[in-house]
Amino acid sequence: MRPATSPAGSDFVVVANRLPVNKQVTADGTVSWTRAPGGLVTALAPVFDSQPGAWVGWTGQPDTTDDPHVDGIDIHAVPLSSAEVEDYYEGFANSTLWPLYHDVLVKPVYRADWWDTYVTVNRRFAEAASAAAAEGATVWVQDYQLQLVPAMLRELRPDLKIGFFLHIPWPPLELFNQLPWRREILDGLLGADLIGFHLPGGAQNFLALTARLTGRPVSSAPVGVRTDFGTVDVDGRTVQVGSFPISIDSAGVAAQADSQAVRERAVEIRESLGNPKTLLLGVDRLDYTKGIDVRVESLERLFASGRLDPADTVLVQLASPSRENVDSYVALRDKVERTVAHINGTYGTVDAPPIRYLLQPVPRAELLAYFVAADVALVTPLRDGMNLVTKEYIACRSDLGGALVLSEFTGAAMELEAAYLMNPYDEAATDDAVLAAVTDDDAERRRRMGILRDQVMHNDVDQWARSFLDTLTGK
Ligand code: ADP
Ligand code: G6P
Repeated sequence: MRPATSPAGSDFVVVANRLPVNKQVTADGTVSWTRAPGGLVTALAPVFDSQPGAWVGWTGQPDTTDDPHVDGIDIHAVPLSSAEVEDYYEGFANSTLWPLYHDVLVKPVYRADWWDTYVTVNRRFAEAASAAAAEGATVWVQDYQLQLVPAMLRELRPDLKIGFFLHIPWPPLELFNQLPWRREILDGLLGADLIGFHLPGGAQNFLALTARLTGRPVSSAPVGVRTDFGTVDVDGRTVQVGSFPISIDSAGVAAQADSQAVRERAVEIRESLGNPKTLLLGVDRLDYTKGIDVRVESLERLFASGRLDPADTVLVQLASPSRENVDSYVALRDKVERTVAHINGTYGTVDAPPIRYLLQPVPRAELLAYFVAADVALVTPLRDGMNLVTKEYIACRSDLGGALVLSEFTGAAMELEAAYLMNPYDEAATDDAVLAAVTDDDAERRRRMGILRDQVMHNDVDQWARSFLDTLTGK
């Protein structure tokens, strides 16, 4: 039953913890709205270019009731109190689920009061989605913060088509089983008609877990990429389970990177860094999953052993602040900043430190100019669902210049095998991959980039959204 207060509503509704814009308030009270951080917003924002719809999400600030205006999207802001931000967002989402789903890189914290708030906040999102959706609408729920929404929404609105997509890895059984509320999470997800993961392996782990923990009948055939979906029988209703690797607006990014302004800025960037022989680049939210420490420590070993010369090598590390009230993020920041200072102190000169580290989000055009300028992108996560920075870098290299060092522990590595793949847990292999990317001849680097570009230009975010939504709506 639709709440009485509901207007006609939208036929297409995205529900995500984040709105596409993020409210920021400085110490003097100045308010600004910027693009929200992370790959989810990067991928979903272009989906609204081809279809109108509503977006239900949080502004990024506690205790506000703003409804920001975003061109072409009907925005429905979901308010969170400060206590809810602590218990639901910083707590259950980012101190329990995030580390649990990322190989327990830090120890997940299990607290019943955080769980209770997660339930309360998921219900609020489900109610907001219900109010935003027209009769028979398609509602697409996003990511680990909202895993209970599909079942809650189905209860409120059995008329809807409900999809769920997980942007982060789905953990193996041995890890998921740690979660005291594992059954509730599965039941929440199974409210959807279609559950999507990046990789077939994630979909298969989900099916195995569901069979084990719920006893429900589950298909056994292998899941393919955008094909051969698995199924779960939920009391006579069939839930489909599939693999849909996410991507970017490849043509849009490539066109912007090819603009004269971005090309000129890329040249200026290299000049401002003293035209080093090798410009290495890292671009990440400051997150312990990203392996920022892996790449700077590798650089230190390469400098120490004389395999790379700090006098003609620069690493630009652009880091975007993230989840700054969560302890594990504070600890990571300390570690990265100490290591960067140590390397610059040891291998730099006063006017030419080998690492330039920025802890600020960089405007989009400026970011693309760095991608165009860099000889090598270092993408070294210890675990990452996909990693869209990888695809952005490749899309920016229509010149076939540049080389990509890519961790095997990213979703992107499943598709982008022509990268310089490395195991971030293997120091020697990491150093060899970085060195090969720097020193291989141009022909080999261009050969690899050509293959990578074909992949990224053909598999874009439009294909991702279309394949998911067509499967959901039975087209
Ligand atoms: P995650 O979703 O975990 O943050 P992704 O690599 O999938 O990782 O997506 C990150 C998105 O955020 C990309 O679109 C990337 O360009 C953007 N981003 C990351 N770091 C910065 C930064 N320092 N400045 C601006 N944008 C950034
Ligand atoms: C990843 C998650 C997203 C999240 C983003 C930024 O991409 O999958 O759900 O929005 O990181 O993190 P934040 O906590 O700032 O929303």
